[in-house]
Amino acid sequence: MSADDFIVTPWHVEGDIDYDKLIKKFGTEKISADLLKRIKENTGEDYFMLRRGIFFSHREMNRILDEYEKGNKFFLYTGRGPSGHTHIGHLVPWMFAKWLQEKFDVNLYFQLTDDEKFYSKQNLTLEETNEFAYENALDFIALGFNPEKTKIIINTRNIQTLYPIAANVAKKINFSNTKATFGFTNETNIGMIFYTSLQSAPCFIEDKPVLIPLGVDQDPHFRLTRDIAPKIGKQKPALIHNIMIPGLEGPGGKMSASDDKGTIYTTDSPNVVKKKINKFAFSGGQQDVEQHRKLGGNPDVDVSYQYLRIFFEPDDARLKIIYDDYKSGKLLSGELKAILIEKINSFLAKHQEKREKAKSQINQFLFENK
Ligand code: TRP
Repeated sequence: MSADDFIVTPWHVEGDIDYDKLIKKFGTEKISADLLKRIKENTGEDYFMLRRGIFFSHREMNRILDEYEKGNKFFLYTGRGPSGHTHIGHLVPWMFAKWLQEKFDVNLYFQLTDDEKFYSKQNLTLEETNEFAYENALDFIALGFNPEKTKIIINTRNIQTLYPIAANVAKKINFSNTKATFGFTNETNIGMIFYTSLQSAPCFIEDKPVLIPLGVDQDPHFRLTRDIAPKIGKQKPALIHNIMIPGLEGPGGKMSASDDKGTIYTTDSPNVVKKKINKFAFSGGQQDVEQHRKLGGNPDVDVSYQYLRIFFEPDDARLKIIYDDYKSGKLLSGELKAILIEKINSFLAKHQEKREKAKSQINQFLFENK
């Protein structure tokens, strides 16, 4: 792989991603100014994740809005592969899903794919991925979803509901399609090969159009789903994609739940957060204070700044001051990190409380097989 190359698949993200190139490669559409305006008209809000391009690409979002404007409701679907504890990067698409759900007043399904992570990770047992599914569900619930309209699907638990849908999907996808889409080889286990039909299944759980907010690495699954949907008499799922959230150690690669150092977990204590950021967060600052004051820092590669932009500082005016001060050298790297540490720790203090409460709420959220 050359320096300006990158890889984005559901199981492997590497390199410095050029999102315009990725849009071309995947054949998705960039979110245009017109679409932003249309979403704003329908929701009454200019949401920062849209405005800042954290969600940057889509497939057929306009069709969802066409239907909605005619009075036809859609539903939302997203998910998580439970390969470890939840880290703060995971919360980005979930928070966006929550915003969409509130604004459009629609149902939401959240799929936890314990089977997938068992198939794709050598070092995890099915018992472990299933335990992580329940752990991750607590973080999802802690964001404040309405249990009347929000259901959590756990693959091994809800297979009875998923399987008939997955069978219809699986029959229409042939091996050469999945192979070409995911780069499977003869050594790939056959669970992986079938798996994409299980990730497709929730798209057809209600007989309505579906909108899926998701990390762009998950797009290939739904490219296949979209191809086969008309063949089983269903509507194609519409998608809205977010960028990959960088790990603490910097650009290139997403925050990985399997690497402790580069990851802030939702259960980390204030002290651990502080240590991780001070020690590992990639800095766009200069070698020493003198140089930094003279030359200024680079917020565009600075991970602390990026976390503020993506998640922790929704106020544009405040974010701009941080940007300008860092760039001019007025704000030092240590000071920028201190701002982020404070933001994350005050977020996590509340989140951890709600996460505790979620333990008694989880049963209201679990999808019941019919
Ligand atoms: N495969 C996804 C992951 O590893 C989990 C997932 C299941 C998902 N269904 C989804 C993600 C729908 C986005 C949208 O995280």
